Amino acid sequence: CKYQIAVIVGSLRKDSFNRKLATALGMLEHPELSFKQLQIDDLPLYNQDDDDNQAKSVKRLKHEIKSAQGILFVTPEYNRSIPGVLKNAIDHASRPYGHNSWKGKPAGIAGVSVGTIGTALAQQHLRNILASLDMPTLAQPEVFIQLNTGLFDDAGNIGAESKPFLQNWMNKYVSWVKMFAA
Ligand code: FNR
Repeated sequence: CKYQIAVIVGSLRKDSFNRKLATALGMLEHPELSFKQLQIDDLPLYNQDDDDNQAKSVKRLKHEIKSAQGILFVTPEYNRSIPGVLKNAIDHASRPYGHNSWKGKPAGIAGVSVGTIGTALAQQHLRNILASLDMPTLAQPEVFIQLNTGLFDDAGNIGAESKPFLQNWMNKYVSWVKMFAA
């Protein structure tokens, strides 16, 4: 594939709905894009003292981000913000100073929540962070999803009701990535 998308899931939970959503989004139509979920559960807690001696897992993450043409964040909302594990991964790859791996990478954001606001507040916080990292982030359509029984089909695809909306989002995301990767 021409464009590699690094997918960051903001939940470490084994049965994470956001991981399922990330996987299902990867099964939509997206010509020329390939999606790969990156590992973040083996990163140490960020400590600035280690900036000159980053852990192997941090170097791997930074390399994977740098090699990608786009980033997709799929995250739950924790206490009206993003989970600490996601912020930890973001901070790691933003350092050392002057070597921010996220810089310039086109980004998309999606999230699913059991609550009615569908991760909207977490996504707004994330947009602030991505702006400071100099990541052009697709603004519309916003993907605020509340979990319901039909969200995924038995094979883990997006269910029939949500599919047109999410395919439309994906089409926009594909164009967004191509615009910046060109
Ligand atoms: C939550 N949850 C939650 N949901 C929400 O809509 N807004 C919120 O602020 C929070 N806050 C929150 C804090 C913490 C610490 C936990 C563990 C959970 C519920 C959350 O949406 C639910 O647990 C999802 O299932 C988490 O996503 P994954 O792990 O299924 O991807």
